[in-house]
Amino acid sequence: MIGNDKTKLFKILAFETSCDDTSVAVINSDFSVDVNLISSQTTHEDFGGVVPELASRLHLKNIMQLTQAALSKAELKFEDIDAIAVSVNPGLIGALLVGVSFAKSLAYGLGLPLIAINHMLGHIYANRIENPQLLPPYLALVVSGGHTELVDFKTMNDFDIIGKTRDDAAGEAFDKVSKLLGLGYPGGPLIDKLAEKGDPGFHKFPRALNKKGNYDFSFSGFKTSVRNYLANKDDDYIHKHLADITASVQKAIVDSLVSKTISFAKQSNTKTIIVAGGVSANSLLRSEMIKQSKSIGAKVHFPALEYCMDNAAMIGAAAIEKYINKDFADLSLNAFSTKGIRIL
Ligand code: KG4
Ligand code: ZN
Repeated sequence: MIGNDKTKLFKILAFETSCDDTSVAVINSDFSVDVNLISSQTTHEDFGGVVPELASRLHLKNIMQLTQAALSKAELKFEDIDAIAVSVNPGLIGALLVGVSFAKSLAYGLGLPLIAINHMLGHIYANRIENPQLLPPYLALVVSGGHTELVDFKTMNDFDIIGKTRDDAAGEAFDKVSKLLGLGYPGGPLIDKLAEKGDPGFHKFPRALNKKGNYDFSFSGFKTSVRNYLANKDDDYIHKHLADITASVQKAIVDSLVSKTISFAKQSNTKTIIVAGGVSANSLLRSEMIKQSKSIGAKVHFPALEYCMDNAAMIGAAAIEKYINKDFADLSLNAFSTKGIRIL
């Protein structure tokens, strides 16, 4: 049972290794988090993006120590844990395999049930850490480094993908523009910060697929237009107007996301919208979604900032119902990299 009855609480030890963050968390069945440790791999900064082989090796190096550190921080022992959860897709296959193999061996060694979680569903469940009662029907805008999807959830098991990106994801657009500007990786938080003092109307970058009734996204042409724009400017100009350029970039990405979400919510009379994935941390996306949802009489929810980016607490959160339903994986569980939200 999900609730406040402390006597019935169970604890899930969760792992997330789908990309460049190794994360270990312990979450309770009332969605309270005992601990959520994230070890971000800074090695990739030198390359301007994640190097898959390096990511796998660093997960391997980190995962045991991080697990011990998480249990010790929460003052827990393995005997206090009731189940093991792990993200199995989508993601970098080598990186996912480290988490899945580790979770399988722990589940086997400790005699605990094993729960397989889709990483994108984990992002959606991150909203329930803040707001345990938040259940469908709702419209979810899922925006991360690899995904941009608008999903209409009737129940958690019955949903339609209304729109998705035809090329780059929203987070990827932030990351690629950041690389063009020589700012670093991941680009989203850096652009968000720089844009604070800039004028979003400084330059109007294109909004793709901007037609009524089209809920797909596209950011590849946008990235090319930023590249062409920068090619015509000298370094001094770019440096002087960095805040204005980043604010204009951010505005273009956020406008596409918000206008399509609000337009679908309006025509489908949706009253609850949720945003999930790393880009849900973006300050302009948050303020625009709040403003525009209000204008159509809908309420919008975001995860707490600490649960927007990849983390294991969200994987544990998605495992709670599966534990209750005894929806367990066996030791033949394997990772796979196929994109998208899916029920496993
Ligand atoms: O969900 P996430 O941590 O990893 C994936 O599953 O991909 O998302 C990472 C993405 C990166 O592209 C990063 O630049 C973006 O989320 N991001 C942001 C912000 N914080 C993270 N994008 C815009 N504004 C932010 N504040
Ligand atoms: Zn993610």
